[in-house]
Amino acid sequence: MRFLLIFGVAIGGLLSACAQQPGYQLHPYDYTTEKNITVPNGAVVSAHPLASQAGVLILQQGGNAVDAAIATQLALAVVYPGAGNIGGGGFLVAHLKNGKNITIDYRETAPAKATRDMYLDSAGNPITQLSLDGHLAAGVPGTIAGLFASHKYGKLPFSKLIDPAIQLAEKGYVITAQEAKNLNDTRNEFLKLNTAPTAFVKDIPWKAGDTLVQPELAHTLRLVQEKGMAGFYEGETADKIVAEMQRGHGIMTLADLKNYTAKERTALTFQYKGKTIVTMPLPSSGGICLQQMMMMVENYPIGKWGFQSPEAMQLMVEVERRAYADRAEFLGDPDFVKVPVSKLLQPAYLKQRMADYQPGKAGNSDQTKAGLIKESEQTTHLSIMDKEGNAVAVTTTLNGHYGSRTVVGKAGFLLNNEMDDFSVKPGVPNMYGLVGTEANAIAPGKRMLSSMTPTIVLQNNTPIYSLGTPGGSTIITSVFQTLLNSLEFGLSPEDAVNKPKFHHQWLPDVVYVETGFNEASIQALEAMGYKVVKRGPIGRTELIRKNLSSKKLEAAADKRGDDSAAGY
Ligand code: GLY
Repeated sequence: MRFLLIFGVAIGGLLSACAQQPGYQLHPYDYTTEKNITVPNGAVVSAHPLASQAGVLILQQGGNAVDAAIATQLALAVVYPGAGNIGGGGFLVAHLKNGKNITIDYRETAPAKATRDMYLDSAGNPITQLSLDGHLAAGVPGTIAGLFASHKYGKLPFSKLIDPAIQLAEKGYVITAQEAKNLNDTRNEFLKLNTAPTAFVKDIPWKAGDTLVQPELAHTLRLVQEKGMAGFYEGETADKIVAEMQRGHGIMTLADLKNYTAKERTALTFQYKGKTIVTMPLPSSGGICLQQMMMMVENYPIGKWGFQSPEAMQLMVEVERRAYADRAEFLGDPDFVKVPVSKLLQPAYLKQRMADYQPGKAGNSDQTKAGLIKESEQTTHLSIMDKEGNAVAVTTTLNGHYGSRTVVGKAGFLLNNEMDDFSVKPGVPNMYGLVGTEANAIAPGKRMLSSMTPTIVLQNNTPIYSLGTPGGSTIITSVFQTLLNSLEFGLSPEDAVNKPKFHHQWLPDVVYVETGFNEASIQALEAMGYKVVKRGPIGRTELIRKNLSSKKLEAAADKRGDDSAAGY
């Protein structure tokens, strides 16, 4: 009853904004998750029901998948503050109806005052919290620049695309049990790492069904609506970011913000058994590692071996080991370091990499070189297909949960802690006991290496899959497994997304399996000599498949979170 009353008063504006559109409407005070849908026209799947619905609203208003991706990301910045963002960055991969593949890189950059050793103490040891907590951990945000760079492929005015997010921030929405728990768990850090009160802290604990209203964020979004990119990177918002930096001993300046540019990069494309995989190039390591792993398994009868058979799992673990070792050694921002991309992707090189693969016997990582693998898992993915034939896959991140946990005073948005994705001290284990290389060392203006792997699969130039996931270092192996689940093992979208996942990242030399993994497979791996460790959920994969027989879109939202599909 309480929700209905609030709904009636507060949501009037939002509903009227959508009044021309019969069918789809946002219900911020009364919504449920939809895990699996099959629809004829357009589908959106993301980490939050309201964000997916905002995307479909835009499709129904005549927008295409790129428009919907922009609206969904902006809505996520409001309704999924742990990872949705305007203070972070991301990557968009799209296949457009004209046959073109595009990618947009809006990864954060190191501020101009950043230095290679900025997170080391006078003895040269990493000060672990500095790259993770608070003002100094933030890279220059790329999201708003990325949305405007994407917009040239959209159809509707930007002011319309941002409207659902503004309404959700202004009028509020009810939070889920998971969001309430996350906000409560982070309360002390919000109090410690902020210089001004934030919308995320209240006197009594949050609970499911509470309304989160974010007037300061709404004001920032309105500035972007009115002034475009300048509403974020210049003027009032930029001044607030720099004032926040000055209060919290950060180093980001007005010039850093004004100079930020998103970059359109050539998509990484490769063939896999008659299908074209379209994915993200550097500064994501995701595309290169995915291509390496797919090419290394291609010549084995993995489909015949079967889903999570010991033979298939061992092969997948061994190709993961090799790809992650290369990631650690060679990959970094291509605008700053020379990366031997074509060599890493040569069939002969990859065949050679597998020369010491021994079926039935565990390999080991002792012979390999230093690397950087991270465990920051708070990122978020959305997939969209529209009725025109456009497909979009977007992964964005604040890095850690709620990023640096620092909100820009009076501007209402969280800043990322993406600086921790750099190799804080090349060649020396970081706080996770992992090591990095010079290729990913900090330098002013440089983009930190990412694992985000938004990916699209084409058959005869028609998009048949759009997928991706959060999960830090597990992103690449989750996308790899979801692709093989679909293309080799014939799993439905729902099973491809939800069946337990496993992960090997070269170092530590361990096969991680999700709790609930089938015991027979674990025992078979252990008998081969692998160390198997059970862990919590791996990723939150979002997938849309275009069924070429029925011509329908089948969208699957990961069961591991509040993820939800919407469509029409
Ligand atoms: N922050 C996670 C990633 O970009 O890989």
